[in-house]
Amino acid sequence: MDIMEVDLPKPSTSTSASVVTDPMEGSSGTNNRFPPVTSQSQTITIKNDLNMPWIEKYRPKTFSDIVGNEETVMRLEKFSSCGNVPNIIIAGPPGVGKTTTILALARILLGSSFKEAVLELNASNDRGIDTVRNKIKMFAQQKVTLPPGRHKIIILDEADSMTDGAQQALRRTMELWSNTTRFALACNNSDKIIEAIQSRCAMLRYGKLSDEEIMTQLLRVCKAEKISYVPDGLEAVVFTAQGDMRQALNNLQSTWNGFRHVDSTNVFKVCDEPHPLLVKEMLLECVDQNICKAYKIMAHLWKLGYAPEDIITNIFRVSKHLEIKESLKLKFVQEIGMVHIRIVEGMNSLLQLSGLLAKLCTVAAMTEK
Ligand SMILES: Nc1ncnc2c1ncn2[C@@H]1O[C@H](COP(=O)(O)OP(=O)(O)OP(=O)(O)O)[C@@H](O)[C@H]1O
Ligand SMILES: [Mg+2]
Repeated sequence: MDIMEVDLPKPSTSTSASVVTDPMEGSSGTNNRFPPVTSQSQTITIKNDLNMPWIEKYRPKTFSDIVGNEETVMRLEKFSSCGNVPNIIIAGPPGVGKTTTILALARILLGSSFKEAVLELNASNDRGIDTVRNKIKMFAQQKVTLPPGRHKIIILDEADSMTDGAQQALRRTMELWSNTTRFALACNNSDKIIEAIQSRCAMLRYGKLSDEEIMTQLLRVCKAEKISYVPDGLEAVVFTAQGDMRQALNNLQSTWNGFRHVDSTNVFKVCDEPHPLLVKEMLLECVDQNICKAYKIMAHLWKLGYAPEDIITNIFRVSKHLEIKESLKLKFVQEIGMVHIRIVEGMNSLLQLSGLLAKLCTVAAMTEK
């Protein structure tokens, strides 16, 4: 069976392609099969909300819906309430809500003028030096009537992929139009933003989301979608997501679409990752210096066809939560790290992974339990 297969009712008319719906309606307990048609000012245009990825359907619209990074979000809320927002850079790992936050900020500040007063450019747009010189400048020069104290907003998403040249061209533009336009940049790596731009912006940093924060959102979505799940299924989704909400929602949706029930076995099948319980058992065998049993599990994982990088990443994640003496855990992590480097460099054989098990057994033998 194709695991992505979904039972979809056919859209009733071809014009439904332009129906604009509020993705959050589904979560308020209304019949989300046929969501109500709402105003044109909303940004998400969809065919049918069942076709919609949950990451878009449940993209927070307001600051209060954004999970985690409370302090930074609160700071932005303050900025938005006084209206005069400085140029900002939000930096942080993928899938933690940077783009979402900037869109929410723009929506709060500009309301119904969102369409004409926001220019959004991301990595899929051409953002070379010419775009900065022409498109951004043109937009900055355009006259838009806004409430007093409000500014046009230029969103530069994934700004770390802009070339140095384009960033250099931006520095003067930012200053020249500062009385009418604000810049909001999002990036994964703030080092790739030139210092001159960093100094013109307020830097906000997002961290990875905690397991509890991801779980909160998953429970919300499960309730809204009436998903059949068991707690260990959601824990597995949290484990696979590693602090990335986008990944968590995608994994939840894939598992639900594929199996119509979310439990840990299904989640690890969909995510195609070694089951952490198996990996945990293998590591505990190493703690007991039982190399034969540990190797049996490793050989089994190898036979299942998992990529060595996936296996070693999983071993690392599991080892972090292993209930063993802290000093032994640190030594384990060190050995795992060394093998991870070798695997990344190309020495990715079963022998390499088995060597790790032998090393872990030796380390365990030399450490007092
Ligand atoms: N803090 C959050 N609270 C609730 N949902 C979130 C949060 N962060 C991410 N999401 C969900 O994940 C999706 C992707 O988030 P977003 O596009 O904001 O990530 P990002 O931080 O910009 O990642 P990237 O660096 O890859 O661009 C959102 O549509 C939303 O559904
Ligand atoms: Mg983004």
